[in-house]
Amino acid sequence: MIYIQALWDLLYHPVHAALKNEQELARMKGSGSDTVKALASVADDVLNGTVTVGEAQWRDRIESLRTRMERSNEILSIADYGAQSPLKQLSAQTMYAGRVVTRSVREVCRSSSKPLKWSMFLFRLVRRLKPESLLELGTCLGISGAYIGAAMSMNGFGSLVTIEGAETLAAKAQTNFDTLGFRNIETVVGRFQDRLDAVLQKTGRLDAVLIDGHHDGAATLRYFETILPALAPGAVVVFDDIGWSMEMHEAWKMLRAHHSVGCSIDMFDMGICCIGGSVRETYRIAI
Ligand SMILES: C[S@@+](CC[C@H](N)C(=O)[O-])C[C@H]1O[C@@H](n2cnc3c(N)ncnc32)[C@H](O)[C@@H]1O
Repeated sequence: MIYIQALWDLLYHPVHAALKNEQELARMKGSGSDTVKALASVADDVLNGTVTVGEAQWRDRIESLRTRMERSNEILSIADYGAQSPLKQLSAQTMYAGRVVTRSVREVCRSSSKPLKWSMFLFRLVRRLKPESLLELGTCLGISGAYIGAAMSMNGFGSLVTIEGAETLAAKAQTNFDTLGFRNIETVVGRFQDRLDAVLQKTGRLDAVLIDGHHDGAATLRYFETILPALAPGAVVVFDDIGWSMEMHEAWKMLRAHHSVGCSIDMFDMGICCIGGSVRETYRIAI
């Protein structure tokens, strides 16, 4: 009986999951929202590994930068203002005070930079939706920022402001952006809590936002409320690590149900909210 169950799990679940994904993608392609249709194409492209020659060149340049950092033993002193671990329940004051940790570039790159699949997803999202003004919370070493920068370069327009609490990481990211020749990325150093208002005054209307840092449910909801007035109708907000902790998952459920959110897509690691629109739909896909 145990063997039959194991065989069933082995054969049925992956097939069932793949079929379900196909159904969800088909449902997205039939959505009344153009943004959802575009995001279905983005997911398709990532699943099929579709890249043009120009896109592959950017990918290879950024990945060789990543490889160099993954081999670097350089030690950094890092100010950490995040939630630290899903098991810790830090107070807002403790997170604001932060702590200083010592890590090699290799460790940071391996543990915190967006992996290739998700980097390509962001890259393709920017290529497809063509946002003019973008904001990122959580620069780290600049891998996701570099993919966004590459997509903006290929689009021929767009600017990104990215905020990072750790000065040492922001400096590394800036060097990476300079190496890649990006002039349209501004790195702002400081806590999100301290920098967000001033950054929003400067950026004006935003078309796309990536929230990829702090990992605290209440803080994530606060950042969303702070950014909301600046979001253009039809803007997308991408939340990373929505399953990182119970609090992050609860925050994600509240964000999906928020009155300003039209369609939302749960991608297990990442969640995407589309602002406004007459259509209210929820999806769940894996890439
Ligand atoms: C997961 S990493 C970002 C990864 C990056 N987006 C990438 O994929 O290349 C999160 C970053 O957010 C920063 N961070 C976390 N909480 C912060 C806060 N409250 N204020 C400013 N920066 C913060 C951390 O220092 C860390 O570098």
